Amino acid sequence: MIRLQKRIAESGYCSRRKAEELITAGKVKVNGNIVTELGYKVIDSDIVIIDGKKLKAQKKEYYLLYKPKSIISSTDDEHERTTVVDLIDSTARLYPVGRLDYDTTGIIILTNDGEFANEMMHPSSQIKKTYIAFVDGLINAEQIKKLEQGVIIDNQKTGKAKAKILEKDFKHKKSKVRLIIAEGKNHQVKKMFEAVDLPVRKLHREAYAFLNLNGLVPGEYRPL
Ligand code: URA
Repeated sequence: MIRLQKRIAESGYCSRRKAEELITAGKVKVNGNIVTELGYKVIDSDIVIIDGKKLKAQKKEYYLLYKPKSIISSTDDEHERTTVVDLIDSTARLYPVGRLDYDTTGIIILTNDGEFANEMMHPSSQIKKTYIAFVDGLINAEQIKKLEQGVIIDNQKTGKAKAKILEKDFKHKKSKVRLIIAEGKNHQVKKMFEAVDLPVRKLHREAYAFLNLNGLVPGEYRPL
């Protein structure tokens, strides 16, 4: 549900301020009834008519971005840093589906479809996210088992996961591990490795559900 003036502005009909004027002037109908209340909320299927003309539904857009490091995963930043939204050439009001840390690279989905985004982020969706973690320390079978069965982070046990050792560098005592999780708690991967005494030095997300980054370099994106 979104406010009527937001729906009008997002359709590109006019600014939100102008939409408010139209609403209070009694020029906007929702499902056949004039609405003059500014807090009125509508859903996607509601029919909005302004001055006798039906408002077009906003076009839904979906993008898959290869997030480079040093980019933040939000719509705007108080320190004026570049955001993932800045990297997409679109006039739609996009936002990221979930977050990757400033220093994390890899796959991130952006959309203006709030319902879809909420569904993807809801824990019940169990969307699998595949990470490659470069950690300090030589990982062992017991640590893998703990990561897979659940570790305590922020006083909560993490769900079942899959972990696989990809490389062990005995000289420098470092490891490269693939971790697949179906949750999205704050800084989850870094905290899970911390819980088994393996600090993450570098983190990359290589897949989101069945989607991967094939054919893209950091900073590039493709529409879905
Ligand atoms: N887990 C983290 O710790 N960081 C990310 O960016 C994504 C998952």
